[in-house]
Amino acid sequence: MQIFRTAVELRRWSRNARLESGNIVGLVPTMGALHAGHASLIRAAASSCNHVAVSIFVNPTQFGPKEDYARYPRAFDSDCALAATSGATAIYAPAVEDLYPPGASTFVDVEQLSNRLDGLSRPGHFRGVATVVTKLLIAAEADRAYFGQKDAAQVSLIRRMVTDLRIGTEIVVCPIVRDAHGMALSSRNAYLNPAERAQALLLSRAIRQIESLVSSGERDANALINTARDIFQSEPAVRIDYIECVNWSTLEPVKVATSGTLFAVAAYVGTTRLIDNTIL
Ligand code: PAJ
Repeated sequence: MQIFRTAVELRRWSRNARLESGNIVGLVPTMGALHAGHASLIRAAASSCNHVAVSIFVNPTQFGPKEDYARYPRAFDSDCALAATSGATAIYAPAVEDLYPPGASTFVDVEQLSNRLDGLSRPGHFRGVATVVTKLLIAAEADRAYFGQKDAAQVSLIRRMVTDLRIGTEIVVCPIVRDAHGMALSSRNAYLNPAERAQALLLSRAIRQIESLVSSGERDANALINTARDIFQSEPAVRIDYIECVNWSTLEPVKVATSGTLFAVAAYVGTTRLIDNTIL
């Protein structure tokens, strides 16, 4: 597995990889602190691409001034090991200056979508995500890029952006990987102490409850949201950020849940912000 520090090296590798006819290059963008959720993306990429690059970059522009950029977990050596065993053939781990050269002043803003769900409670977050993912897609020139449904609003934003900018990379979305208790894996779960970890199970419990309500025939978005709200009220230590029932493409609220509707929650457990969702 090769390790690159610059976009120039990544692009050269990708172009060489594609020279042999029929070779398909996959990209898995990450911020590192890799877990089984990331590994599932890498494995999905390896199963349908001949070459797989994993980018590891804690992107400063998607963190708010009071957020956890400085303390975000960094674990480069174990990340490389997990990426390699999951099927990665290259790592791109740049310094901030490689993706944001001195004087960098170009940003990508996906209007409307940027201000919904996580974008509403984290101003500037999606502008940072759209900007860095654009840079990564341009650098890697990959045929396919892999993202997790775990960050469902991010997926809507990236799909819109790739369509609007006519970027030729196919976006592949992989299911949420959960632990044995049902909790969605996240690099930020490392922040939780044992008591908070137990409280955090409320998110996946609410999601499961909503799924079973929908399978028993409930379609009214307000009824679903209110049910989830009641579940959260049973655990005052968990503070709701949002509970939303939206169209997965536009992120606009719907009144009636239909097939493909996104039901998403975000909540604070202590100071840690967690998200979970289901596509109904
Ligand atoms: P990060 O949080 O490291 O996640 C990288 C990718 O892994 C994302 O596509 C995310 O949805 C996916 N992922 C995380 N947890 C998952 C889980 N439990 N199951 C399945 N997939 C999971 O998302 C980002 O980084 C950044 O915003 C990034 C796109 C890299 C831009 O900086």
